Amino acid sequence: MSQQVQGVVAPGKNEAVRVETIVIPDPGPGEAVVKIQACGVCHTDLHYKQGGINDDYPFLLGHEASGIVESVGDGVTDVAPGDFVILNWRAVCGSCRACLRGRPWYCFNTHNAKRKMTLTDGTELSPALGIGAFAEKTLVAAGQCTKVDPSVSPAVAGLLGCGVMAGIGAAINTGNVGRGDSVAVIGCGGVGDAAIVGSRLAGAARIIAVDIDDRKLATAKTMGATHTVNSRSNDAVEAIRELTGGFGADVVIEAVGRPETYEQAFYARDLAGTVVLVGVPTPEMKLELPLLDVFGRGGSLKSSWYGDCLPSRDFPMLIDLHQQGRIDLGAFVTETIGLGDVEKAFARMHEGDVLRSVVTL
Ligand code: APR
Ligand code: ZN
Ligand code: ZN
Repeated sequence: MSQQVQGVVAPGKNEAVRVETIVIPDPGPGEAVVKIQACGVCHTDLHYKQGGINDDYPFLLGHEASGIVESVGDGVTDVAPGDFVILNWRAVCGSCRACLRGRPWYCFNTHNAKRKMTLTDGTELSPALGIGAFAEKTLVAAGQCTKVDPSVSPAVAGLLGCGVMAGIGAAINTGNVGRGDSVAVIGCGGVGDAAIVGSRLAGAARIIAVDIDDRKLATAKTMGATHTVNSRSNDAVEAIRELTGGFGADVVIEAVGRPETYEQAFYARDLAGTVVLVGVPTPEMKLELPLLDVFGRGGSLKSSWYGDCLPSRDFPMLIDLHQQGRIDLGAFVTETIGLGDVEKAFARMHEGDVLRSVVTL
């Protein structure tokens, strides 16, 4: 028997989002219905609304969420009704070439939920990143649910479903930041700040935060940055070199997604250093580099997608560390809001004083 709940729908390109009644079918084989408790507002939701991802309107937005499993379909054994879970948008398949080679974070055959949720007139909804969690309940593949310690705040847990995991993972998984390393993080929004938290967790000795906004740099300090550079008034590459004995950082994490910051990241690393690209550029952006510099500098250039995370390994670990007080994920929750406030939260994203607005239910 299907059920009707409230959810935030993006009806068409650039149209304001609205709360609509949506229809959730019972979970089929391998699926679960999850009662959402919290869902962070991420830039990707805004990109969906603006048509920057695809044109499959209407979208059911929201993809950074935690909640309680309400019911499961046939064959689901890993989660059961009552479990507190974080949803993830890359349920790895276990059988593609990447999975079989032991690199499931490159899985290209993710088992996300099929589109089955609709508006009351039967119009099919496209759930953002296969989740759709700005809703009282959503239907997902059971493989998208990762059980974690239920004593954590749902708003904090939900953040690991996207941006915060992307940033922490960029440092600890992709960048493989090590004890004593110097790290530079370019762009200190939610993702960059999470990369700072991850770098500190990994034992970095020096963490240089770079941004064009002094308020962002002040927050970055509270997250664990040891030095800050305003790249509007300073040359970022020079400043990072100066702060690393003239060499450049062992790991540079780019969390903006623009040509000039990609270029800064490229030149700010130590000769054998690693550049981690986590900021997402737009299709028309290009970077021109002298080939001799590409050839002449060693080290590696890596992109990080969802922090190269393994939800089953990384989500419970980070929740444990948060519960022990060894990282503070609560610092990323700027405000909690209702389902009707998502449009306002999109507007606040550009004002620069919000790390995360989190819808709580
Ligand atoms: N140099 C340095 N910092 C910059 C620059 C620049 N040229 N331009 C913008 N910034 C800073 C902003 O001041 C802000 O602090 O980058 C930060 C971006 O933060 P947010 O807009 O909050 O974005 P966030 O959610 O952190 O995501 C950053 O990572 O996963 C990707 O898609 C995401 O591309 C985006 C990036
Ligand atoms: Zn796979
Ligand atoms: Zn996201």
